[in-house]
Amino acid sequence: MVRLLDLGLYALTLGIIGVDSKPCKPRDGPRTYEAEDALLSGTTVDNAVPGYTGTGYVTGFDQGSDKVTFTITSDTARLYDLSIRAAAIYGEKRTSVVLNNGASSEVYFPASDGFNAIPAGQVLLNAGSNTIAIVNNWGWYLIDSITLTPSAKRPKHTNINTSLIGPSTSAVTQKLYDYLRSIYGKKILSGQQDLSWANWIQQQIGKTPALVSVDLMDYSPSRVERGTVGTAVEEAINHHNRGGIVSVLWHWNAPVGLYDTEENKWWSGFYTRATDFDVELALRDTTNANYTLLVRDIDAIAVQLKRLQAAGVPVLWRPLHEAEGGWFWWGAKGPEPAKKLWDLVYQRLAVHHGLDNLIWVWNSVLPQWYPGDEKVDILSADIYAQGNGPMSTQYNELIELGKDTKLIAAAEVGAAPLPDLLQAYEAHWLWFAVWGDTFINNAEWNSVQTLRTIYNSDYVLTLDEIQGWRG
Ligand SMILES: *[C@@H]1O[C@H](CO)[C@@H](O)[C@H](O)[C@H]1NC(C)=O
Ligand SMILES: *[C@@H]1O[C@H](CO)[C@@H](O)[C@H](O)[C@H]1NC(C)=O
Repeated sequence: MVRLLDLGLYALTLGIIGVDSKPCKPRDGPRTYEAEDALLSGTTVDNAVPGYTGTGYVTGFDQGSDKVTFTITSDTARLYDLSIRAAAIYGEKRTSVVLNNGASSEVYFPASDGFNAIPAGQVLLNAGSNTIAIVNNWGWYLIDSITLTPSAKRPKHTNINTSLIGPSTSAVTQKLYDYLRSIYGKKILSGQQDLSWANWIQQQIGKTPALVSVDLMDYSPSRVERGTVGTAVEEAINHHNRGGIVSVLWHWNAPVGLYDTEENKWWSGFYTRATDFDVELALRDTTNANYTLLVRDIDAIAVQLKRLQAAGVPVLWRPLHEAEGGWFWWGAKGPEPAKKLWDLVYQRLAVHHGLDNLIWVWNSVLPQWYPGDEKVDILSADIYAQGNGPMSTQYNELIELGKDTKLIAAAEVGAAPLPDLLQAYEAHWLWFAVWGDTFINNAEWNSVQTLRTIYNSDYVLTLDEIQGWRG
């Protein structure tokens, strides 16, 4: 904390220094561009931390608009792998990479003592002049340089698992999985959080999302105790009955220990900040009262999933979402309790209750959080970045995480991805699902014109185009 403040004051005293950027051309090999030669806005050049290349590095990322902008000329339109040489000496950070003042992607910098090259996804350069800006986001990192290497063509996904992990899989669930495998790498399923927003899209542009995601939140026992009545199961059955694909997540309200204060109401009880429920302690043995409550809650959710099973609805099941973020109580104690809880949810639902309609969707990207190839069916990420970009950074991270043996989905996004970019980047997300209010209906995230482009693309599958997947 003290070191953070020191850097802040230091950056303030230096003020804003602009340095002319020199356009260069990436050729066939890797080409490196020093940050100190790029255009600085609200940032400064320094050389106090050793290990940089060139004559220094760029620091002072402490305001939202602080950035360093590289100008790069390319002879042809071409895709490049981007790597950023950076030092996150104050702990892990996130930055935003903005290409040509448009698509923005988020890049994670692990904490480090010095400078390291960090893979930062891909950039599609236009013929002519391009800009790549590294913009504050969390700030408080040092940028030494970027390197661009022409991307190799993505290999075909020839090793995707053909069977699901569950001890039993119903015929219609296998049918869904086979269908998903058949379109993977060729098309993307359009998707939307909440049936009502899916229907809103239909009203706006005359196309209905192929996939609808619903939330079992209001079936959490600590909410039901306070009067909530879930409707997600009916919505899922409704979408299934019109030929759609269903995904289910669960904002699991903590079973007990809700603060229920003015700032943290009981209905925020899935947030770490709203409860003192300690997942690590609850999982330490199978006899303590809070372990029993975890099982009680999973059993309550099993009742709802069984209703979907009885209605013949296969479920892309995404519990414990965004665990790695730490903002939900199931991720608050780090990766080990989260993985242990994943095992418990799996044991209880797939083994004890024998549910045969679940396809298990893991939702964290970091390797230390990964339960393992034998414990998940599909990998996914939740990504909130404006600009309707292809989110190739996270896609490539997930390819690496599952060694290209798992299907990969953009389970929750703020901005729906543009299909021409998805194809140019070969970011083969199986589906995207846009979050509801303030995202799908907000032009800063998704203009109706952009949604029209996406929903009318041949690359994007809509409800009318997936009819018959059940065979
Ligand atoms: C999926 O494929 C990987 C690699 O071939 C293998 O290790 C794993 O056991 C497979 N899992 C399933 C559920 O088939
Ligand atoms: C269960 O969790 C609640 C809420 O955090 C806590 O107050 C209580 O002490 C825990 N009980 C046990 C037996 O650990």
